[in-house]
Amino acid sequence: MTTPAAFQRYRPELEAALRSFLSRQHPSLLYRMVRYHLGWEDEEGHPQSGGGGKALRPVLCLLACEAVGGQWPRALPAAVALELVHNFSLVHDDIQDRDRERRHRPTVWAIWGEAQAINAGDALLAAAQLALAHLPEAGVPHERAVAAAQTLASATLEMVEGQVLDLQFEGRDQVSLDEYLDMVSRKTGALFDAALRLGAMVGCDRGDVWEAMGRVGRLLGLAFQVRDDMLGVWGQEERTGKPAADIRRRKKGLPVVYALARGGPAAQAVSRAYASSSLGDRDVSAVVIALEEAGARDYCLSLAREKKAEALAILSGLDLVPEPRREMEGLAEFLLERDF
Ligand code: IPE
Ligand code: IPE
Ligand code: MG
Ligand code: MG
Repeated sequence: MTTPAAFQRYRPELEAALRSFLSRQHPSLLYRMVRYHLGWEDEEGHPQSGGGGKALRPVLCLLACEAVGGQWPRALPAAVALELVHNFSLVHDDIQDRDRERRHRPTVWAIWGEAQAINAGDALLAAAQLALAHLPEAGVPHERAVAAAQTLASATLEMVEGQVLDLQFEGRDQVSLDEYLDMVSRKTGALFDAALRLGAMVGCDRGDVWEAMGRVGRLLGLAFQVRDDMLGVWGQEERTGKPAADIRRRKKGLPVVYALARGGPAAQAVSRAYASSSLGDRDVSAVVIALEEAGARDYCLSLAREKKAEALAILSGLDLVPEPRREMEGLAEFLLERDF
């Protein structure tokens, strides 16, 4: 599947706006870590390109703004803020998950240590707030800009709530499907919700449309995280840029949650492996095979498709500009078919 056109259309302005909010230099290590994480530089500080993320959240935000009839450049401060909050979460997430690789490169903490990586994440979060404060300059009424700041801050809080639950679940024997859905709705759904909601808030003045767009985003975020959970078990590192290490890390992604709820040989394989003090390659392979045989992969795929279909149903009930609507629909498909 080809990358939706919106990514190319917005890319130059998005990247220029991102860079303009990160032009400070002092102390240099802080901004080196940030630029490295965003894929602009290598470990030594030499310029590089192509190492950043997919920019899904900002692209969704700008598309939502256009879809509701707004001018997308006005939403750039929100789009940049979303990407910065997302990157803050990834820098901290890699410390929390003990992951040494992301986007085909060593993670910030793997290079500069946990303590400095926490600083890099903190800086990304603060830069996001600065970026969002430029909404009035872009022509967004002051009151709307204040509401946008509240939206982003509460989505960020919700995301951290989800991260806390995710880590707590690692130490639990059982996690129900409802608990899992609540956790991912927070850790990933909340920022996708904010992405579409903020785009709509900049683009139109109808609260019911903001709300509907937020719901679309949340459902797409859920579907996207389910897909990510599948990649955490069955993904190819050469494609995803991060190791498929969820079983080794004893994570409760959806394949495992499904198997534990269903019982039988896959649940036994997971429980045995997760209880053992040393989880080796062979134990991990045995769990992966047992999950496959129990139908976990098919289950995840159908749940992700169900959430995507719910999102598209809400979208189809809205009065939107045709071309960005089509692009959003295409992006929803793209989110689930990706294996990178
Ligand atoms: C990774 O998100 C974290 C999840 C919420 C699954 P992305 O896959 O959007 O990360 P990048 O920015 O493109 O690397
Ligand atoms: C995704 O976390 C959610 C956030 C980072 C807030 P994961 O731990 O599931 O994502 P990856 O697989 O490391 O990208
Ligand atoms: Mg992680
Ligand atoms: Mg995590």
